[in-house]
Amino acid sequence: MGAGEEGTATAEREIMPQPLLSAERLQTRIDELAAQVDRDYRGKTLLVVCILKGSYIFTADLTRRLTIPHEIDFMAVSSYEGGMESTGEVTVTKDLHHDVQDKHLLLVEDIIDTGNTVRFLIEELAERDPASIAVMSLLKKEGTEEESLPSLEYLGFTIPPVFVVGYGLDYAERYRHLPYVATLSGMPEVDET
Ligand code: PRP
Repeated sequence: MGAGEEGTATAEREIMPQPLLSAERLQTRIDELAAQVDRDYRGKTLLVVCILKGSYIFTADLTRRLTIPHEIDFMAVSSYEGGMESTGEVTVTKDLHHDVQDKHLLLVEDIIDTGNTVRFLIEELAERDPASIAVMSLLKKEGTEEESLPSLEYLGFTIPPVFVVGYGLDYAERYRHLPYVATLSGMPEVDET
């Protein structure tokens, strides 16, 4: 069997993703979020922190729209270990390269589900004396308690409590490359923020 045939056989075994948020909707919302960041951080020392792996595409699209000077760093944490349910325990698998003292940090997440990851990151980074910490998440699942996420300043969309993939989000490391957000099980309606 040639490489092409093997690829087709593998693709046929995948669950078909059902689009939930189109590429166009995502890009329009990211335009708005970037404009907000431009306004809020003008004149400040901004360090954009991409939380790997899920937010790598979102961070790339966001930062290419920013017109204010900024730096980018990467931090990797893991709590899902490739599955659909959070393990509840967050671990740092790659730390920042930058010293964050006196910098304004904007943590960029792809999704907030239980909120465990964001809460852990805020606590962890607050100990390093940054000038400020704010969180931007492209998605938040309905039902996550807002009051337990005080630094969530920027939110793209609130989505129903379904498992989603695409635009950086994975299931067992698959589907991250999709230019849209999709569900693997259904197709509910979604409103902005
Ligand atoms: C996902 C996602 C968030 C976190 C959100 O990361 O990227 O970081 O889960 O869930 P929570 O609000 O319940 O904590 P994951 O551990 O799947 O790693 P990945 O980004 O490398 O895919």
